[in-house]
Amino acid sequence: MTQIKPTREQALELFKSYNESDALLKHALSVEAVMRHFAELNNEDAEKWGIIGLIHDIDYEKYPEEHCVKARELLEKAGIPEDYIHAVQSHGYGLCIDVEPVEKMELVLYTIDELTGLITATALMRPSKSILDLETKSVKKKWKQRSFAAGVNRDVIEGGAAKLGLDMDKVIAETIAGMQKVAEEIGLKGDL
Ligand SMILES: [Fe+2]
Ligand SMILES: [Fe+2]
Repeated sequence: MTQIKPTREQALELFKSYNESDALLKHALSVEAVMRHFAELNNEDAEKWGIIGLIHDIDYEKYPEEHCVKARELLEKAGIPEDYIHAVQSHGYGLCIDVEPVEKMELVLYTIDELTGLITATALMRPSKSILDLETKSVKKKWKQRSFAAGVNRDVIEGGAAKLGLDMDKVIAETIAGMQKVAEEIGLKGDL
């Protein structure tokens, strides 16, 4: 099968063809926005980084037992290029697959994936229910409270940040900034 760089529209359509959950779509849009934001900070290909973020959980709804493994088959069938597939698979390194994140793009995805979940949960706890006025320190408070959003693996996030050479404050601040750009689409505009 010939491999073509997918457009954002094609990638979204592909993601939606395997996933119906609104929460998962919002997660995909969050990760896409953060990937775009980090690509811009690094003068990298924001379209490509964003699309990889958008489709990273493509197999999650239908094949939860084969998460990150099944993704290869689905993406190959759609003609998605190999470097996209490797990046998608590597976000589950050590959790559901043995594909290691190596490229900067892959390490960013690996680092920010679950962090977007912690940030979403923190924003929803606030009176405004908004991410637009959310500060890094509020997320750090919830970060330390291990029982809060307990499913969010803090060790994975810290390990990824260390490999990127970034401190956690910076990673949290930039992840919030990326998500703020799509606050409305991800349901975190709240009252603001
Ligand atoms: Fe995942
Ligand atoms: Fe994810």
